[in-house]
Amino acid sequence: MRLSTLIWSSFLQTCLASHAQRHIGKNVSIPTVKITVDKGTHFQVIDGFGVSEAFQRSAQMHGKAGLSPSSQRKALDFLFSDEVGAGFTILRNGIGSSTSYTLDFMKSIAPTDPGGPNSTANYEWDGDDGSQVWLTKEALKYGVQYVYADAWSAPGYMKSNGNDTNGGSICGVIGTSCTSGDWRQAYANYLVQYLRFYKEKEGIAITHLGFLNEPDLNQTYASMQSSGFQAGDFLTILAPTLKSSGFGDVKLVCCEATGWNDGEDILAELQSIPGAEETLSVYSSHGYSSNPALPFKTSISRIWQTEWADLNGRWNVAWDNLGKEGEGISWANKIQQGLTLSSISGFLYWIGAETTTVNSALIRFSNDTISVSARLWAFAQFSRFVKPGAVRVKAESSVGYVRVSAFETVGGGLVLNVINNGHVGVKADVEVLGGKGKGGNVTSWLTNNGNNLTMGGGFSVTSGGSGGVDFNGMVPGRSMMSFVL
Ligand SMILES: *[C@@H]1O[C@H](CO)[C@@H](O)[C@H](O)[C@H]1NC(C)=O
Ligand SMILES: *[C@@H]1O[C@H](CO)[C@@H](O)[C@H](O)[C@H]1NC(C)=O
Ligand SMILES: *[C@@H]1O[C@H](CO)[C@@H](O)[C@H](O)[C@H]1NC(C)=O
Ligand SMILES: *[C@@H]1O[C@H](CO)[C@@H](O)[C@H](O)[C@H]1NC(C)=O
Ligand SMILES: *[C@@H]1O[C@H](CO)[C@@H](O)[C@H](O)[C@H]1NC(C)=O
Ligand SMILES: *[C@@H]1O[C@H](CO)[C@@H](O)[C@H](O)[C@H]1NC(C)=O
Ligand SMILES: *[C@@H]1O[C@H](CO)[C@@H](O)[C@H](O)[C@H]1NC(C)=O
Repeated sequence: MRLSTLIWSSFLQTCLASHAQRHIGKNVSIPTVKITVDKGTHFQVIDGFGVSEAFQRSAQMHGKAGLSPSSQRKALDFLFSDEVGAGFTILRNGIGSSTSYTLDFMKSIAPTDPGGPNSTANYEWDGDDGSQVWLTKEALKYGVQYVYADAWSAPGYMKSNGNDTNGGSICGVIGTSCTSGDWRQAYANYLVQYLRFYKEKEGIAITHLGFLNEPDLNQTYASMQSSGFQAGDFLTILAPTLKSSGFGDVKLVCCEATGWNDGEDILAELQSIPGAEETLSVYSSHGYSSNPALPFKTSISRIWQTEWADLNGRWNVAWDNLGKEGEGISWANKIQQGLTLSSISGFLYWIGAETTTVNSALIRFSNDTISVSARLWAFAQFSRFVKPGAVRVKAESSVGYVRVSAFETVGGGLVLNVINNGHVGVKADVEVLGGKGKGGNVTSWLTNNGNNLTMGGGFSVTSGGSGGVDFNGMVPGRSMMSFVL
């Protein structure tokens, strides 16, 4: 079915034409890009977009470093609001392994060694969890749907190196031999106890659980190494423990490799352990050491990119900053390519908001001021409109520098994300195939150096389309525009 032709204001046309002239120096005709969306060709289901406030960043957000209550609210709004922010739907919390909250450590719920894997664990609950309890309750009020609790390490006494920092493995997994015994069941019980504290003491249902972070690295902070064989070994104990403890509905996530290539290797090893792959609802990897550029070969229903950031270069709020670290337009492309090339269902930046000098977060605090980077708006271009349950559909562009992705929403609406990496404005002629369009109004949302998710809205829809065009719109150079039908 044809939708209708969307008539743009002549004002915008004029702006775009003069923008093109400034770049090219003489009058040029505006390039036309043919975009085809096929609602009949379905790909992955979307869980959403998100961030973490692990390592006590949640405490910073809660005022530990001087942020006033009104600024705390602003930061929460920017991250989670669907009216003025990114509308994130996934929060990744850190399960502590350390003996204290010194520096930014995450404290364990069983900080002292009970003396052996068969002894009764010394659990304690402080009701705060480094302000993650507060943050999670706030996030849920805004509509966050998935709370993912992930452990960077087991407590030191459960590990081959006796410390939650500096690598080491869970005692008892394939390839380890610890004098303290086999701690696999104790670690599974520990993770379940964390879920129980949140559920019983705080009324929070954690939806997703992970037990590793970057298992290919040995770091001076909480870190635990694991091959895919070892991860698979532990999963075959963790999964039945969840079930028998009444947490069978919590979805297991693994393995958080540092980059996509390591993630591929760890997955292949895990698949060789009978029954391990079947325990997982999400296969996760990070983007740091290699980008998500290929789909994983797996029967696991969801792929998440759970942590990534530009960690070099100074704090940069710009959208288009000539390729400098942390600019918004490169993140818009990274997110979109993760969705289209790697069939990602959940895409998370590392930190949402923190005190920082680099681009590790989307929002920066310094004393009581808040600085919002264009990376947040790059995320918002997706996360405000592509909500959990949306399905990616086929979308193609006739021009290489104009990249597209499209999603059918739960209500039958359509979201089309267009990134114009070119330096002049383009006219996008959009054709929608395969199934009914929603008709009615099309709104467009623009982010570039002068706009942070600006709505060009309530465009009046006129006559039916012709020549294979259902609607069209002008997308300025170096800009991202999402069309929402
Ligand atoms: C470019 O287009 C503008 C607006 O149509 C017109 O006023 C101007 O004369 C043109 N310039 C050239 C060099 O053709
Ligand atoms: C763990 O290692 C850190 C250094 O990374 C050290 O300060 C600490 O004392 C160690 N803890 C134990 C229990 O050995
Ligand atoms: C991790 O790195 C530390 C510091 O370089 C080193 O002392 C330790 O042996 C390493 N751990 C393992 C398990 O290789
Ligand atoms: C813990 O209990 C198991 C099963 O009863 C036993 O096989 C194992 O030797 C015990 N481990 C330790 C360290 O006591
Ligand atoms: C933040 O506050 C501290 C202590 O009052 C002050 O020294 C510092 O200059 C402030 N930083 C900024 C960026 O305002
Ligand atoms: C967009 O956000 C940036 C960074 O916070 C800010 O400097 C700029 O003024 C905002 N632009 C608009 C048009 O709101
Ligand atoms: C389209 O949007 C305009 C402006 O917001 C509004 O006046 C009009 O009623 C809308 N039409 C439909 C069909 O929703």
